[in-house]
Amino acid sequence: MADPIRTLSLPSPSEYHNRKVALISGITGQDGSYLTEFLLSKGYHVHGIIRRSSSFNTGRLHHLYSDLHAKPDDPSAPSGRLFLHYGDLTDSTNLVGVIAKVLPSEIYNLGAQSHVKVSFEMAEYTGDVDALGTLRLLDAIRTCGLEKHVRFYQASTSELYGGVSLSTAQGHTSPDSAPPPPPSKPEEAKAQDELTPFYPRSPYGVAKLYAFWITKNYREAYGMFACNGILFNHESPRRGRTFVTRKITRAVAEIKQGKSDVLYLGNLDARRDWGHARDYIEGMYLMLQHDTPEDFVLATGQTWTVRSFVERAFEVVGVEVGWSGSGNDEVGFDKATQKVIVKIDPRYYRPAEVE
Ligand code: NAP
Ligand code: GDD
Repeated sequence: MADPIRTLSLPSPSEYHNRKVALISGITGQDGSYLTEFLLSKGYHVHGIIRRSSSFNTGRLHHLYSDLHAKPDDPSAPSGRLFLHYGDLTDSTNLVGVIAKVLPSEIYNLGAQSHVKVSFEMAEYTGDVDALGTLRLLDAIRTCGLEKHVRFYQASTSELYGGVSLSTAQGHTSPDSAPPPPPSKPEEAKAQDELTPFYPRSPYGVAKLYAFWITKNYREAYGMFACNGILFNHESPRRGRTFVTRKITRAVAEIKQGKSDVLYLGNLDARRDWGHARDYIEGMYLMLQHDTPEDFVLATGQTWTVRSFVERAFEVVGVEVGWSGSGNDEVGFDKATQKVIVKIDPRYYRPAEVE
């Protein structure tokens, strides 16, 4: 018997793309929520896959999803064009079902176990969701006969580069060796581009490496419009509280308000290239509007240390931070009161760190 989905008559890929129907995995995350806002503002119908949870996990979407009964065609109520479906990247049957029902013109695969440190503790699960989850989604598109119609975005990451100097054999600094002196100004990032060799430094990075290549492979093998966005860190007030920027900004506010005394951190000399999530989700959208499917890197080109981020965050509330001691005994103190406000907790170190 013929597959009923494959016998559907579909418009040409360009007409199909003009329907503006997006499906987002990871819609409840930082990027998913900004992307949803952005696509709704562009007139899209937005469908999101959410995981069943015993507590609410849709907090970042509440402002968009307040009126469940809004009408799809009422321009003043974009929530009428937002639809949530239970699902999971570990469940192939579910992914096929959602895609067959929604017939999306664009799929943004943002769903992931996205915490690098947690990936060392849950390596197998991270591989299942971040690596095989991407394969499941790509295969679900093919199962639905939509491989020539759907445009696919894969949330790849700068963690693919990881030990960039290891990969280029230029020597490297391990987390155990003496850290480089903290820069007081941003540093020009080492030039990394779409052709820089990969060298992931965590189970998360390794899983994302598989996802990168399977996306590229399905593009080449099946002619799919599939793109990798290799994004450096991007932050916002919606960033999860266990990521370092949001952890610092929340702690600074709490310490200022007298609700907390000390901020505990790991590697103060790690460097990151931090941009704003709102800018980066627009980049994701633009990749899928490009004439041809390609891979792109998004970054600011400047890196800062965690230490300088701490200093700047405290500066905002009028506190100048001084440092004393070294290694695990290093502390940050309020220069005005001499009170210790930053301490090291080695639990936040990673078994291997990107450079
Ligand atoms: P995030 O805030 O951690 O959001 C992750 C999303 O994935 C959440 O909606 C989460 O659902 C969902 N998810 C987790 N496991 C899932 C599963 N098994 N099935 C379906 N959904 C699942 O991450 P983000 O910062 O928005 O990042 C979005 C994507 O970009 C991720 O793939 C991340 O790895 C990648 N990325 C992020 C950055 C960055 O700096 N933010 C940089 C490069 C790449 P719950 O809400 O239910 O947990
Ligand atoms: N989370 C955390 N908590 N990080 C700390 C801490 C701490 O207490 N102390 C120091 N750090 C350092 C980490 O060692 C790391 O070098 C840096 O701060 C940034 O850590 P995170 O904010 O957790 O982000 P990440 O860079 O590991 O990963 C994020 O960005 C990747 C892109 O480069 C995530 O969003 C990934 O999903 C994303 O791919």
